[in-house]
Amino acid sequence: MGRFIAEFCELCRSLNVFKSVIEDLLMSNFDTYLTENHDRFESDLFEWLRMPSIGTDSAYDKDVREAADWLATKFRGLELETEVIETCGHPLVYAETPAVDGAPTVLVYGHYDVQPPDPYELWDTPPFEPSVRDGKVFARGATDDKGQMITHVFGLETYLKTKGDLPIQVKFLIEGEEESGGAGLEAFLNGEYDKAVPVKEKLAADIAVISDCSQYAPGKPAITYGLKGITYFQLNLTGPNRDLHSGSFGGTVTNPANALCKILAALIDNDGRVQIPGFYDKVQDLSEREREQFASLGFSEEEYREELGVNALAGEKGYTTIERRWGRPTFDINGLWSGYQGEGAKTVLPAAAGAKFSCRLVPDQNPEEIQESLRKMLEELCPPGIEMDFQPFHGAPGFVLSLDSPFMEAASTAIEQGFGTRPVFVRSGGSIPVVNKFSQMLEIDTLLLGWGQDDDNLHSPNEKFSLEDFHRGIKSSCCLWDEIAKIKT
Ligand code: BES
Ligand code: MN
Ligand code: MN
Repeated sequence: MGRFIAEFCELCRSLNVFKSVIEDLLMSNFDTYLTENHDRFESDLFEWLRMPSIGTDSAYDKDVREAADWLATKFRGLELETEVIETCGHPLVYAETPAVDGAPTVLVYGHYDVQPPDPYELWDTPPFEPSVRDGKVFARGATDDKGQMITHVFGLETYLKTKGDLPIQVKFLIEGEEESGGAGLEAFLNGEYDKAVPVKEKLAADIAVISDCSQYAPGKPAITYGLKGITYFQLNLTGPNRDLHSGSFGGTVTNPANALCKILAALIDNDGRVQIPGFYDKVQDLSEREREQFASLGFSEEEYREELGVNALAGEKGYTTIERRWGRPTFDINGLWSGYQGEGAKTVLPAAAGAKFSCRLVPDQNPEEIQESLRKMLEELCPPGIEMDFQPFHGAPGFVLSLDSPFMEAASTAIEQGFGTRPVFVRSGGSIPVVNKFSQMLEIDTLLLGWGQDDDNLHSPNEKFSLEDFHRGIKSSCCLWDEIAKIKT
């Protein structure tokens, strides 16, 4: 009996060796394809980056459409069922592989629109002429989000060309208005376009995948399990019926610029605490465990300070920089205007002043409640002699995802195969509102697999993306489909 068991064990061991040889073989097949297509993946990306798909500026509508069509052509080249869906704004690109019975479905989301490149003069090379320096490609959209998004297209291509059929179904939903409020996607999700197939059915999936955020640091890939929400406002103040001589009229009417400064200053105190009534009421405090976990990442406040070129860091009292970035709500003025901006001095009392400002939110703050509380506060703060116009823009709640899911495990393994090391778990201060939509509407979680870096200059001049990470992202993506296929749904 003992011998039989020993022999049986030996057989199992050999079978296992055999299995891993086969797995290695298939893996090296990926590697062959990845090596053979290494340069072409880059030149394809560069071609896409050359299209200035600036979603917020209607002067670029033609280029936005060209970028959408380019992507649709890529999907059709892989024989995916592809649609360019017209919306009230820029089109959505939707594509899917055939359904696989009994296997999970993945919904990949991304965006092909980019932020305006200004200030243009601060770019070392033109934003829409991709330029490679020091292993990184510099261009608007390099990391946010064309460069990251396209890794999943090439990951899928690599899988299909190497192994043939996919073991799961993959659906792609790629929008062109992420940077400008996402009205088209919103209407699409509300079922306003394709009445024949309910959107919930069309997008039905077991998990969403988004690569539109960052790694923890170079060589330290990460899975992001929390993002902040946002609530964004504009405030316009008007005073006298024209700009006035500040000597003849100063001190007799409320100066809208003075009023604006006073109002904005009242919104945050010296300890970095936001003063909107009720702002912190629903804030989920960071647990001791999470604070310890953040601290264990070995974040250097000093390096961070140096890298940003400031002589001191600042923020809400009682919290570390990482805690402030990932787990605490914030208030920031995003734009400010009034009075004379030209050369030299002009003694003017401006007739108007305005600002754009926003709060980043954490679970379980409610953007609408904060908006209403702020409206009341502003009405009370508005001084005599000033007309106030308060305009709320988009809002989305923040969230944290459960780490305890087989999909997290699958993504960790895929990242390990692509990057050679297992990911750490991080949160981020950025916002991707569609994740909430997926959770409410489709009742699915999202894997946030960022291949970028925090210093990639997204939304700033000289946006960049490491090409090595681009290729590692492609490999992680093609490994992900197999890892997800192992999950029973
Ligand atoms: N890709 C970013 C979001 C992001 C950036 C997540 C960095 C994690 C790390 C996205 O394109 C973006 O810019 N989102 C906006 C959302 C807003 C317009 C609602 C943001 O965060 O400002
Ligand atoms: Mn993005
Ligand atoms: Mn962005």
